[in-house]
Amino acid sequence: MIIKSLSDLRIFTLKVGKNIKSKKCFILLYGDIGVGKTTFARELINYFQKKNSQKLTNVPSPTFNIMYEYDLKKFKIYHYDLYKLVKTEEIEELGLLTNHQNDLKIVEWPNLIRSKIKDKIEINLKYRKRDSERSVTIRGYGKFRNFNVNEI
Ligand SMILES: Nc1ncnc2c1ncn2[C@@H]1O[C@H](COP(=O)(O)OP(=O)(O)OP(=O)(O)O)[C@@H](O)[C@H]1O
Ligand SMILES: [Mg+2]
Repeated sequence: MIIKSLSDLRIFTLKVGKNIKSKKCFILLYGDIGVGKTTFARELINYFQKKNSQKLTNVPSPTFNIMYEYDLKKFKIYHYDLYKLVKTEEIEELGLLTNHQNDLKIVEWPNLIRSKIKDKIEINLKYRKRDSERSVTIRGYGKFRNFNVNEI
């Protein structure tokens, strides 16, 4: 689908948030530098904070820290950015695939992940000619195989 602006991205993110029934989920965010992966993650994390009547926090890009954690009381959100990792083994060291099994994980630059993740939602963001436009595809696997959001 085509996203024409930041506010469209926001609407898309809210729809994704509303449709995530199980928090045992990986959201893998694909797309070039600066296309909007962190922006999506920020909106999604703020959506869950708001839904929980919690204070909205800053959601910085985890480019340098690799991971930030958000406590939503009933579950946690782990926001990763694997851009800086150069080896697949580093992902094992992070425990990305083995720790926090019951929590929502949002991963930017997941390209290094070699192991098969069964239950996941993949989102692909692409630039379009207009600065503020993006094309977005979303596809669920495993228990999320029927995951869908309507056209915005
Ligand atoms: N429709 C849009 N959707 C998402 N971002 C948009 C859109 N229009 C403009 N932008 C801008 O594009 C930038 C996206 O930056 P962001 O940090 O989210 O990208 P990123 O994919 O996480 O980059 P990186 O690969 O460096 O982590 C922001 O400055 C945002 O305001
Ligand atoms: Mg980012």
